[in-house]
Amino acid sequence: MKVLVTGGAGYIGSHTALSLLEAGHDVVVLDNLCNASKEALRRVEEIAGRTLSFIEGDIRDRACLDQLFKEHDIHAVIHFASLKAVGESVAQPLAYYDTNVAGTVTLCKAMQQAGVFRLVFSSSATVYGPDAPVPYQESMPRGRTSNPYGTSKSMVEQTLEDLVQSDGRWSVVLLRYFNPIGAHPTGRLGEDPQGIPNNLLPYIAQVAVGRRSTLTVFGNDYATADGTCVRDYLHVMDLAEGHVSALDRLTVLGAQAYNLGTGQGLSVLQMVEAFERISERPIPYQFAPRREGDLAAFWADPSKAEKELGWKARRSLDEMVADTWRWQRRNPHGYRTEINTTSQGAS
Ligand code: NAD
Ligand code: UFG
Repeated sequence: MKVLVTGGAGYIGSHTALSLLEAGHDVVVLDNLCNASKEALRRVEEIAGRTLSFIEGDIRDRACLDQLFKEHDIHAVIHFASLKAVGESVAQPLAYYDTNVAGTVTLCKAMQQAGVFRLVFSSSATVYGPDAPVPYQESMPRGRTSNPYGTSKSMVEQTLEDLVQSDGRWSVVLLRYFNPIGAHPTGRLGEDPQGIPNNLLPYIAQVAVGRRSTLTVFGNDYATADGTCVRDYLHVMDLAEGHVSALDRLTVLGAQAYNLGTGQGLSVLQMVEAFERISERPIPYQFAPRREGDLAAFWADPSKAEKELGWKARRSLDEMVADTWRWQRRNPHGYRTEINTTSQGAS
């Protein structure tokens, strides 16, 4: 199948592009590179031993999309392209609604015109909102959202549900990711945040490699076992494979949501401990007040994805951490530098 991957040069998109190539699919990536590097795609091709097509362009550019669909016989779209920093979304709501919501509407219009009605959308556990009981199940309604990023994901889910209601030709899978971490086991692909990382694991990894001195742990007074927040961390390669499984589900018409998580919650301090153990480096940390908008604890009920997509997260916490560490050590400054550690006995 020929698959258009929007945002395919980014963190999850690049790992998914690799899984798609390895599964025998043809891949066309559309990315404006606002938060990614072409180097990631070069490495995807190298690892896969196959090429993909890359178009540097914007999902909001209708003419670019029309041209793309004219040139490529696309069977399905996996739509990652989005802005994703929660704090930034509070400061720049229009940018978030423009890219995440209006961009998706433009993409769907172009798909409709091209006669492509199969779509996998990157949603988030954030759509369940603060009041949903854990573990989150897809049958629960979407809840309140506390920032424009989360609201944009909820709005797109609603838009896509309305779209399939209006036109029976559409088949849409909404994948609600929990907390993706890790990297490709070669250490050649990984997460390359610009500036100060917002997310926990990239921050810990940068402390371990000496780029930052101390981790700030936001809140140690939550009603959890050790007082720090609990999340459902899953390996990015498991997540990537979830998208390959989701493509097979696009024979079913309508919109369906699936949680992609492990079903297990781990605290911030448990993640710090795991990273110290695997990297054999200390991770100095200090406690600070809670970060606004953080929920105490949530994790997935992933049983629907297992039953209907035949997908289950299978990589362990130690693999997630070891792969993050290998990527960070080999690429201390992300895609800008790579250190060949094989001669130093790195595994
Ligand atoms: P990322 O920033 O690494 O990838 C997003 C990609 O989209 C980047 O390559 C960026 O350059 C591209 N992009 C942004 N705006 C674009 C535009 N207008 N036109 C074309 N390309 C554009 O982020 P990621 O972590 O890989 O996330 C992928 C998707 O998964 C996003 O939709 C994100 O909201 C969602 N998601 C991520 C997480 C997470 O923790 N990483 C959790 C839940 C959901
Ligand atoms: N944390 C720290 N210090 C840091 C970074 C994070 O203590 O420097 C803590 C956070 O307070 C939270 C936990 O680590 O308790 C995980 O934080 P992340 O930012 O890694 O992940 P979140 O669960 O906050 O965010 C993720 C995605 C968002 C999505 C959100 C809700 O990154 O896109 O889940 O589903 F909106």
